[in-house]
Amino acid sequence: MARRTPIVVDCDPGHDDAVAILLALGSPEVELLGVTTTFGNCAVADATRNAQRVLALAGRSDVPVAVGAAGPIAGDADLGNYVHGTSGLDGPPLPEPQRPPIDEAAVEFLTRTLTSSPEAVTLVAIGPMTNIGLLLRDHPEVRNKVAEIIFMGGSTERGNHTPTAEFNTHADPEALDIVLRSGLPVRMVGLNLTHQALATPGVVERMSAMGHVVGRTCAEWMGFFGGSYNRIWEFEAPPVHDPCTIAAIIDPSVIEWREAFVVTELDGTWTRGTTVVDLFRRYPDQAANVSVAMTLDVERYWDLVLNSLDRLGAAS
Ligand code: BDR
Ligand code: CA
Repeated sequence: MARRTPIVVDCDPGHDDAVAILLALGSPEVELLGVTTTFGNCAVADATRNAQRVLALAGRSDVPVAVGAAGPIAGDADLGNYVHGTSGLDGPPLPEPQRPPIDEAAVEFLTRTLTSSPEAVTLVAIGPMTNIGLLLRDHPEVRNKVAEIIFMGGSTERGNHTPTAEFNTHADPEALDIVLRSGLPVRMVGLNLTHQALATPGVVERMSAMGHVVGRTCAEWMGFFGGSYNRIWEFEAPPVHDPCTIAAIIDPSVIEWREAFVVTELDGTWTRGTTVVDLFRRYPDQAANVSVAMTLDVERYWDLVLNSLDRLGAAS
């Protein structure tokens, strides 16, 4: 079999984070070395429990979970329970965690995993960037073991948590700034891309029709998540942001990319955490530092996601 891409998923589950974890577990193209958690959609303790429950649902409690940041590098934690519910993953019942989180904190786990890995590891950041920012700030020695950082966050256009800022980038701009200035390979999957990944009624029907608990659970998550998206943003169907990062690792051609100079606003009365993406000029002043996701092949994306979920659910 072809080489599997080793990844660590840094997340705040969260309905779309949960689907991203399941997608990684159902895809032979990637090897999930561990899950690190952060505050974000809920408090970090809830995000950790949710990650453990998702792994239990998939029958993969062997995957280590390490607890990460309770708040950002600067300022207070701003949580997303208003989207994801009281638990951070409201909706259908889930199995209890089968195993406690490991003794190492997220940054320690990442440091050890990168150092001991025979090959460079891809870091998938689908919550606030705090754990990854602290890793690069405090452990520069692991830089040469980072294959790339691919993150869901920001946008080339509008925000969602504020008029201009996306939730994850708004949650910890200082951490994002460390990553964007790191000189490492970075891919950004922002709202301009993920708003193309809508779980339409047809997609949800395909989840329900799988006939196993993984498919049914995903369908019910989409029900809760879709309700929030309709109530808050008047979307007809929820955008399933986070799995776009995993899909891009499995098959980079599912997304069209453009190289661009990207920074984040650290100040700004109204714009803190906004990504500034220099895409509109032919001759930008600054060299490109990020591959920016632009266009999603929607049909292929959902085929890829749903086939993986079905494979996972049939086997677990
Ligand atoms: C991002 O914020 C969270 O609500 C989602 O999990 C996703 O990572 C979208 O703005
Ligand atoms: Ca997330």
